[in-house]
Amino acid sequence: QEPIAITQNGKPTGASSSSSASLQPPSKVASKPPRNYHRSEGAEKFERKTQRHHESKGKFPSNTHNETKHNAPNPSIQLVKRRDALLPGRKSLPIWPHAESIRSALRKNNVLVLTGETGSGKSTQVPQFLTSEPWCTKCIAITQPRRVAAISLARRVAEEMGSLMGNQSPAAKVGYSVRFDNASGPNTRVKFLTEGMLLQEMLRDANLEQYSAIVVDEVHERSVNVDLILGFLKELVARGMGKRKHPLKVVIMSATADVDALVNFFDQNADSNTGSSANSADNSAATEPVDSKSVSKCFVEGRQYPVKMTYLPNPTQDWVESALKLIFQIHYKEPLPGDILVFLTGQDTIESLEKLVNDYAEGMDKDVPKLLALPLFAALPQHAQQRIFEPTPNRTRKVILATNIAETSVTVPGVRFVIDCGKSKIKQFRNRLGLESLLVKPISKSAAIQRKGRAGREAPGQCYRLYTEEGYAEMEERTTPEILRCDLSHAILTMKARGIDDVLSFPFLDRPPREALEKALLQLLHLGALTDTGSITESGSRIAKLPLTPTLGRVLVEAVEQDCLGDAIDIVSALSVENIFLNLVTEERKEEAEEARRELFRREGDHMTLLVTVQQYAEEHADRKLWCQKHFVSHRAMQNVMNIRKQLHEQCKRLGLSVSEERPPPSDAHTKAILHCLLKGFISNTARLMPDSSYRTLMGNQTVSIHPSSVIFGRKTEGIVFTEFVFTGKAWARGVSAVQLDWITEVVESIM
Ligand code: CDP
Repeated sequence: QEPIAITQNGKPTGASSSSSASLQPPSKVASKPPRNYHRSEGAEKFERKTQRHHESKGKFPSNTHNETKHNAPNPSIQLVKRRDALLPGRKSLPIWPHAESIRSALRKNNVLVLTGETGSGKSTQVPQFLTSEPWCTKCIAITQPRRVAAISLARRVAEEMGSLMGNQSPAAKVGYSVRFDNASGPNTRVKFLTEGMLLQEMLRDANLEQYSAIVVDEVHERSVNVDLILGFLKELVARGMGKRKHPLKVVIMSATADVDALVNFFDQNADSNTGSSANSADNSAATEPVDSKSVSKCFVEGRQYPVKMTYLPNPTQDWVESALKLIFQIHYKEPLPGDILVFLTGQDTIESLEKLVNDYAEGMDKDVPKLLALPLFAALPQHAQQRIFEPTPNRTRKVILATNIAETSVTVPGVRFVIDCGKSKIKQFRNRLGLESLLVKPISKSAAIQRKGRAGREAPGQCYRLYTEEGYAEMEERTTPEILRCDLSHAILTMKARGIDDVLSFPFLDRPPREALEKALLQLLHLGALTDTGSITESGSRIAKLPLTPTLGRVLVEAVEQDCLGDAIDIVSALSVENIFLNLVTEERKEEAEEARRELFRREGDHMTLLVTVQQYAEEHADRKLWCQKHFVSHRAMQNVMNIRKQLHEQCKRLGLSVSEERPPPSDAHTKAILHCLLKGFISNTARLMPDSSYRTLMGNQTVSIHPSSVIFGRKTEGIVFTEFVFTGKAWARGVSAVQLDWITEVVESIM
């Protein structure tokens, strides 16, 4: 099928307009919607405007499953109907006219670098353009930095192809594979998978024999995993595809125009040529032989409506309050449709704002349209994430409260208003201390531009920046790639497990500092994952195959020795979600929660508390939701924990790590065994009590304080082990257990 050219004329494109209109700083939050929001001029306008729903635009034809029982739908007819209904929308995507040049570029070269703005159709359309190519006899993999994106894209592409999902039918053509969830089948031709999952597959099959093409999406995000994938693929391409029987096509996709670095990275002629030897994809070359050394490139122009910008006149620290005020201001003033997308820093701020929006929305007059607050962050369970993509109900405005996940990775339809707090939580490794911490930091200009762009996807929009224009000017141009600022032990263990001995000469797109590489090698040595000479040990191989960080993986491997694997899995599962305890805003609620949670708290610290919480929840069969409410525990997080727990049990079984059915009764010896496993994984995160009552880390000599969220906050104990290091003005240890100094010494001696 040939693509049909679309008319993009008449659609506004390009630059956004900037307004000098300023945003007033928020006044104190009242318990009802702020008075001035009530019955504003805008509220009346709601009544007069006819609501134009997305559905009426044909973007989301009504659900295919809502027919009556008397007229039972034939699923395949329904799938075909839905596929056909989506086709016109696909044809109007900016990428559609490029289909043939993309195909011909890949007939000519094995590697294509494709850039195009978010929403131009790269992720959904490129795999579909390629399935009918003669070289495409196997599956196409499309990697995503985040699981939400992998799952939602797979769902969307399945619909567009008129297919079920890989786990629904063996005949299904589309599937996905993310950590702790695989929905692909024997006939899957298009598979969305997280970068981590592709790396795991590479450990089993270095030549990626099951694929005809690997599409690496969202490369601009520059996660550590994507950099590893690029390095592995470069080697595979350079080696003439190893022992592969069929050629492997590689498509590198990015939303930013930083093409040349990528082209040069893959171009094997680059060293001998002065300029880039890349070919333009527009030169159709279907009959030419494959030039395996060069790289094609293709640029897809975006489609962007103007976005009006508003800055704060003065900087604020309280984004939650500012965002809350703005949400209601927009809701009362602006007609429907037009959803609001708010960029926040993480689950904690998102959940606080979600609650505030819901509380205030309850107090709105009946004649004001409803507000539907929807959180969106990586750790959110799948069904909750899916709600973002459902059509907005009648007379309702969606408010999506998201992390930077919604920047480029997930396209939320219907958004006209963006509120950007200007910050994001990022991982930062401190080489000197050997600790990785989560920091809330200003985003880069390029991230701010992406966020703004989300408002102008479907119509002209507005972006409210919760920072000043000067604040914007001070932002860095680009976000530093993760590989230059993160703990590299996971990356190095993955390389070692894949047989790369000399990690220092691995082809990195951006070479991490030698010091960081050496630090990571040392860390792996301490974990017993590598030998003195740098080769991978048996436990190292097991750790590499677990979908966990090497530290958490080490905890599980040690737990087998200590015969407490079941308990260790419970703790590790709870540590794998952001926070199982609800974050409470007011002091009064905090006290109430402390009282309610008392029976879960353990004097040994947060890890044993997590264990008790997971076990009590698992044993609760009557009403788990109610149990969570009573104990101020997040039901959403606990559902996630149970899913991870189940998957980890399966993974361990597959690796031959047996979990005994019988759990020993609680005893000091058993607790010591569990904490010993934690120490084996987190020996770098141990600290001792100093005479001045501070804690000082044993490796790195850094002063840390026990985080107020810890159950042993305020207690003095000779030693602590912690699973998270947070730096917010002060260095905090979060997730803390009390340990004896001689336990720490015992572990240190065993590794030195
Ligand atoms: O990859 P890129 O950002 O260039 O675009 P895409 O993700 O392929 O999105 C193309 C179109 O598909 C957009 O209009 C999205 O709104 C739509 N889409 C969707 O409706 N549901 C999804 N889960 C993903 C994309």
